[in-house]
Amino acid sequence: MRSPTRSPAHSPTHSFTHSSVRTSAYDVVVVGGGIIGLVTAWRAALRGLRTAVADPDPGGGAARVAAGMLAPVTELHYGEETLLGLNLRSAERYPAFVAELAEASGRETGYRACGTLAVALDADDRSQLRELHALQLRSGLASEWLSGRDCRRLEPMLAPGVRGGLRVDGDHQIDPRRLAAALLTACERAGVAFHRARAARLSVVRDRAAGVVLADGAALGADQVVLAGGSLSGRLAGVPPAAVPPVRPVKGQVVRLTVPGRYAPFLSRTVRAVVRGGPLYLVPRENGELVVGATTEELGWDTTVTAGGVYELLRDAHELVPGITELPLTETCAGLRPGSPDNAPLLGPTVLPGLSLASGHHRNGVLLTPVTGDVLAAVLTTGELPPEAAPFTPLRFSPDGSAAPLTHSPVSVPASRERSV
Ligand code: GLY
Repeated sequence: MRSPTRSPAHSPTHSFTHSSVRTSAYDVVVVGGGIIGLVTAWRAALRGLRTAVADPDPGGGAARVAAGMLAPVTELHYGEETLLGLNLRSAERYPAFVAELAEASGRETGYRACGTLAVALDADDRSQLRELHALQLRSGLASEWLSGRDCRRLEPMLAPGVRGGLRVDGDHQIDPRRLAAALLTACERAGVAFHRARAARLSVVRDRAAGVVLADGAALGADQVVLAGGSLSGRLAGVPPAAVPPVRPVKGQVVRLTVPGRYAPFLSRTVRAVVRGGPLYLVPRENGELVVGATTEELGWDTTVTAGGVYELLRDAHELVPGITELPLTETCAGLRPGSPDNAPLLGPTVLPGLSLASGHHRNGVLLTPVTGDVLAAVLTTGELPPEAAPFTPLRFSPDGSAAPLTHSPVSVPASRERSV
């Protein structure tokens, strides 16, 4: 184990070596150093809690792969209206969140208020998009139907065959790699300790979570433990079966292209479509990177980048924006979304006292980062799940049915997202 980096002001209450077992005591140990674990640790440390993160490679995880769309409106799905409410809340917090993070870390995150255009390539796509539009309007969201010609006027690189689309000016983007780097620095500056090893086992003392034992044998004692290990969150040994989060890996492959200066601006906003039944998106960054994603594959822990996956992404992206074949291909990668049974996150206390979850964010981990940090900070300091997160309690999956499953609840739409008619 490398020495934890922390400021003296936040030193653990005790730290000693006995035989081969080293023990540290914290208020909070966060298992997992992806963006969800990091935002949880940062927010906890800012509330004055002595906080540690256990992860062999903090700042890694699914955010290394994600495109970083902040798209509650264009990623809306039937039956996910309750999740929409949380997604909108988090999107609304993003500008203040990135400003605070930039101040705390000295790093920018590539947040870009660029808007999104969701387009249809054929008659089937168009009727699907019309249904999405109707759902958006029923939910009170701002979304404008455009003809194919108007879509191309906005984005001249679109294929001539585009049949129409939805203009959503409130769905933006961030660069998840830069977000992770900024959160890592903010955590370090706030005195979070990093233990760069895998958490192997939860310690349970007198029916309460009491810390974790790392793969290198070090024991980290803590009053509270947060499982924030993304798709791996269900694999920590020692968690009682009733508290094991029902998360699974959902593979996504992504390719990255570069737009040479002479082609800029290639796309001015995120462009999405449903092609052959699967979602496709092109996310243009200000630095010239163009991220094309993503496959959705239920293949367990496999993270192979396949010829078929890359072929399908490029084939579909080419149908949408033919000019992409001119662009240098700079990277291919695959990651694992933490899928949950109802596609919504698991936030807050579990049936085991002292053990909380921040996991199961599935397609919305980047979008839900600000609200997750706020919710977990409240949980860790008050023991209570704030009302905005009540539907996302992990107890909705507990075997004794101690909480109801996610039900549709009225969505409160921020003024900036409301449709104007
Ligand atoms: N939110 C985009 C994806 O999961 O592919």
